[in-house]
Amino acid sequence: MLTVINSASYIFQWKNKVRSSEYLIRKEAMGILEGKITVVTGAASGIGRSTAEAFAKEGVAHIALVDVDEQGILLTSEIVKNLKTGFSTHCVDVSEEDLVASTLSEIVSEHGRLDVAFNNAGINHPSSKFHELETENWSEMIKTNLTSVFICMKYEIMHMLESGSGGVIVNTSSGAGIVPAPGQAHYTAAKHGVVGLTKSAASEYGKLGIRCNAILPGLVDTPMIRDASGELTDRAKRTLERISPTGELIKPEQIAQTVTWLSSEGSAKINGQSVVIDGGGIMR
Ligand SMILES: NC(=O)c1ccc[n+]([C@@H]2O[C@H](COP(=O)([O-])OP(=O)(O)OC[C@H]3O[C@@H](n4cnc5c(N)ncnc54)[C@H](O)[C@@H]3O)[C@@H](O)[C@H]2O)c1
Repeated sequence: MLTVINSASYIFQWKNKVRSSEYLIRKEAMGILEGKITVVTGAASGIGRSTAEAFAKEGVAHIALVDVDEQGILLTSEIVKNLKTGFSTHCVDVSEEDLVASTLSEIVSEHGRLDVAFNNAGINHPSSKFHELETENWSEMIKTNLTSVFICMKYEIMHMLESGSGGVIVNTSSGAGIVPAPGQAHYTAAKHGVVGLTKSAASEYGKLGIRCNAILPGLVDTPMIRDASGELTDRAKRTLERISPTGELIKPEQIAQTVTWLSSEGSAKINGQSVVIDGGGIMR
């Protein structure tokens, strides 16, 4: 009888141990963005796609995938779906104010708020000397890589203020946001502008619980730096030579890790900063 009681008590203690370690495992497995309502622009490719995947792995409740590339968004949505994360797809040009406004209203009316916005969509152009840069190219670059960030931020901040629960914005600038990219006066100006928008929003809304930071990647292995046959462009080869301390390209997943952390509570006191992610290349 004594033995039976002892075994029962042993089993009871053992079960409790199992339960508490299960609890610990579950707790440790909680993502750093658990339950967040998020939007990612440029989500159809490269850094945007990797970030959507990282957000899903960190437990967000919803990702609104925004891009002009419908096919690309569908591929990203498959990745997110396989990670059992809620998503919506929005085939939208982020430089079109009316479309951005209605898309963000749709997301917020469906989910009640917006917690995290990653403004990342962007383009590049072939290099040209400053004095030969076509004004048409200048206008397209500024519209897509700078005005679009302003437009997205404007409506994201509006919804974050309305919900009263704060929020986090991360904008994609570039190493060209602090040092000039050769032959890229317009890209350099746009990416410097993104840093300016980031600092303005951080200083204006930090006290209201909205943080805003910029990431400044070095050369990242995405379709942006490859030609139609998948080869690195000559410009990318020259840039790699010039700025990479190890000769390695940065992986989009490595950028996504920083974006995820900047979007999380772990970076709660980081606001208005330009986080260079280039392995130290900018110091060369
Ligand atoms: N790849 C690099 O080396 C590098 C370095 C520094 C900064 N960046 C910046 O990172 C961001 C993401 O670029 P990536 O390297 O992932 O390139 P990418 O070409 O793989 O992705 C860019 C995405 O933005 C989308 N996009 C472009 N214009 C849009 C618009 N008007 N509306 C909606 N979507 C639009 C594209 O369709 C594409 O899916 C860009 O802002 C780019 O300037 C890239």
